[in-house]
Amino acid sequence: MIAIDGPAASGKSAVGVAVAGRLGFRFFDTGAMYRAVTWLALRRNVDVHDEAAVAALVEAATITVRETDPGSAEATAVLVDGDDATPHLRDPEVEANVSLVSRVPGVRRALVLIQRALAAEGGVVMAGRDIGTVVLPDADCKIYLDASREVRAERRRRQIVDAGGEADYNSLLADLERRDGIDSSRKTSPLTAAPGAVIINTDSLNIDEVVERIVELAT
Ligand code: DC
Repeated sequence: MIAIDGPAASGKSAVGVAVAGRLGFRFFDTGAMYRAVTWLALRRNVDVHDEAAVAALVEAATITVRETDPGSAEATAVLVDGDDATPHLRDPEVEANVSLVSRVPGVRRALVLIQRALAAEGGVVMAGRDIGTVVLPDADCKIYLDASREVRAERRRRQIVDAGGEADYNSLLADLERRDGIDSSRKTSPLTAAPGAVIINTDSLNIDEVVERIVELAT
């Protein structure tokens, strides 16, 4: 089991997919699950500030996770009560609300159970914020990917532009700052490097170099 944690836009998914490919492992992006729950809450008109209502929504929902085909925009597909949330995971409203939904303890409890079940057979790379600390504390290899906020904002801008979209560097930077703040300061499972995690700063490394480093550490 390989746990990869780190802040938004630190490259966890791109790196995780490639590491899993190299090792013949499965890859799961747990951020997709928090995004799918956020999509569900917005769709059902549940107030994302109402923690009890959001937790009740998750407890009543059937959440199914699977890998997508190689090269898909999302590495992890999430179905909620049979509806495919995957095309909506990057919607602006989901983006704006996911940090609020993911700080609700009841949401985390439910999703952590599903994540542990996915990893139970082993042969898995899992990316998120609390994989090494909470979900898989016994993971064989724990990585904390970091990069400066400026580098992450620029990478995200390039990703959007390369996909044919329009992006403003300063608003991406401000959004990362806001999300980093919520993810790192929440009471339940805040973003932090797990004890024993290898911290890799990717400011001056490309994806292949990071992948190589992790494969070396894991084998
Ligand atoms: O990695 P991402 O940007 O898709 O994550 C979306 C949000 O989900 C992010 O604001 C933090 C939250 N998250 C979390 O709290 N725990 C995880 N294991 C994964 C994501």
